[in-house]
Amino acid sequence: MIRVTDLDSYQASFDGEPGYLDWAAFGPLSPAVRVEAQADTELLGSGRRTSIDLVADHVREARELVAELMGADAAQVVLQPSTTYGLMHALYGLSGGLLLGRGEFPSLTVAATRASEALGAIRLQWLEPADGLITPDVVRESLTDDTSALAVSLVDFRTGYRVDLPALREVIGDRLLIVDAIQGFGVVDADYSVADVVCGHGYKWLRAGRGTGFSWFGERALERIAPVLSGFRGVDGDLPLDAVPAPSASAQAFSVAGPDTLAAARLASALRDVADVGVPTIEAELLARTADVIFFADRYEVPVITPREPERRAGIVTLEPAAQDAAPLAASLANHGLTVTARAGRIRVSPHVGTGADTLRLFGDALAAFSSARVW
Ligand SMILES: Cc1ncc(COP(=O)(O)O)c(C=O)c1O
Repeated sequence: MIRVTDLDSYQASFDGEPGYLDWAAFGPLSPAVRVEAQADTELLGSGRRTSIDLVADHVREARELVAELMGADAAQVVLQPSTTYGLMHALYGLSGGLLLGRGEFPSLTVAATRASEALGAIRLQWLEPADGLITPDVVRESLTDDTSALAVSLVDFRTGYRVDLPALREVIGDRLLIVDAIQGFGVVDADYSVADVVCGHGYKWLRAGRGTGFSWFGERALERIAPVLSGFRGVDGDLPLDAVPAPSASAQAFSVAGPDTLAAARLASALRDVADVGVPTIEAELLARTADVIFFADRYEVPVITPREPERRAGIVTLEPAAQDAAPLAASLANHGLTVTARAGRIRVSPHVGTGADTLRLFGDALAAFSSARVW
């Protein structure tokens, strides 16, 4: 197995077949994650207490690594089954106006609507910009005295737009900033210190497989989010028997049952690779790959709706061909062995740092074939 120590070995650890351009949907598991998962599965089969404890220790390790990558305190990080679980813990404890984009991934829109209906404590303040981009101006225009929080994706799953977290913070003042970071965590060097809640999951860009969610709750969030949506693991100390203690004052409050230790092992392995290479290095390389995708789109005159400025995008490049071109373009990509997400007339292309020249060549060939058959 390749030991990841720097960018070269990180890139070499991408060992899937050429043609995969769908990291925003699912990240094929890294070699380190696969090896770790197998080893830990064997340990859990041994029936030895020490082996079980060894696997369980990956929970601590994963929390510490999430915190390290965020520049935060591990005590404020809690593992989750997925991004949506973390977001639900945050949203169900809000009151007042909640700003959120109508076009956000349903993790936010559905959970916020359900929380509003269930508890009646939050009033949804929908943001509906024509281009779908949640900019500081869009937020400023909709802010009211009643607004208590903004929930937003770090990177928009449709357009690939990367929000400006510090600028959003400046606009909302001391209201809560709740961030769905799944489409950027570990691949963009975001300033999470301006956020109050950050939720993510390791099954896309981190290459850790499903079940590897996590969330971080800062001081302001810990103070304000109440009531707490949680279960028996959300208390301090041992198993609460014969009495029901108050929720923990730490981020641990936002948990339901015991974590999946095998998932934590996968997450820790994946995060270690990222920490060893460094997020700024990964970001720079990923921006070069997305620039390659944009280059081919421009060359064959396929419109791109993802922002051009490197600081406003991450790993997603979204193509929006003319209506009559959408199906032929999707077909050409499929015929060339490329995996992308085609949805509602748009084609989302998401390379990763390990996307090689062979895949990009296939992408260029697919666009060339589409272009030569195009009827203007
Ligand atoms: C922006 C965004 N949020 C959330 C999710 C899903 O979250 P999870 O499966 O981790 O709950 C996705 C999945 O594509 C996504 O793109």
